Amino acid sequence: MKIGRNDPCWCGSGLKYKICHASMDAKIQMYKDQGKKVPTHEMRKTKEQIEGIRRAGELNTKVLDAVTPYVKEGVSTEELNRIVHEFTVEHGGIPATLGFQGYPKSVCTSINEVVCHGIPDPDRILKSGDIINIDCTTILDGYYGDASRMYCIGEVEPETKKLVEVAKECLELGLKEVKPWGFLGDVGYVINEHATKNGFSIVREIGGHGVGVDFHEEPWVSHIGKRGTDYLLVPGMIFTIEPMVNMGVADVYEDEEDGWTIYTDDGKPSAQWEYTVLVTEDGYEVLSR
Ligand code: MF3
Ligand code: CO
Ligand code: CO
Repeated sequence: MKIGRNDPCWCGSGLKYKICHASMDAKIQMYKDQGKKVPTHEMRKTKEQIEGIRRAGELNTKVLDAVTPYVKEGVSTEELNRIVHEFTVEHGGIPATLGFQGYPKSVCTSINEVVCHGIPDPDRILKSGDIINIDCTTILDGYYGDASRMYCIGEVEPETKKLVEVAKECLELGLKEVKPWGFLGDVGYVINEHATKNGFSIVREIGGHGVGVDFHEEPWVSHIGKRGTDYLLVPGMIFTIEPMVNMGVADVYEDEEDGWTIYTDDGKPSAQWEYTVLVTEDGYEVLSR
């Protein structure tokens, strides 16, 4: 199914193919001919989709901003869930995690040795020395934004503080690799390098993901990539980068009872930050942070 140069572009812009995606597609085909993995049309968002996802991402960032002042010693994770939920719906959004594959809450709250997908709980009160990841995903007008941040509660051990900082640096270094005609493997490569250089390890089983039209889309984003491998990066791709950095071993396991909470095997702490990122014509744009 070859599109003629004067036919409407596949992206739905209404423009002729030759003045829309034709030259970019030709360049992508060159990489494909060289044996590289190239993104499908679904992985390349249209202008309209990008605008919608940008707005969802902006609201998601505002949700995280809104909950931030409450992330303090003495608050329960259930209370943080309530704040996220109310702010989201008051601003016309839907918390994407609520009811997602049976997940029971509007946010994930992952403390210390919990790597991710921690479930808010009225009995879990934040105490001095805790580190917590708050992971919000917001649906607005059918589009998705996904981001998470770490918080240090009261007096946190210096090595644990360092873990939180290195995890943030990993995300920022990965982000700098996001540019057209780079590779997804470059992102994971620099993340893993930075974590291991600092004596930490990267979770392998769980990664980032395409996002925007659905919660979890292709591509899967490894945080331990190899340079020049995995998908070619092309303008219009939107995915999360969300490295989980462990102080000890990289191995993790899932809670058998709740079916969600992911823990480190050795019980040592884990830290994670997440952005939703768009590949632009000349680099990247963070759509939610
Ligand atoms: N927000 C998480 C992510 O970054 C996914 C949480 S799914 C849930 O992909 F069901 F655990 F909430
Ligand atoms: Co998330
Ligand atoms: Co995510």
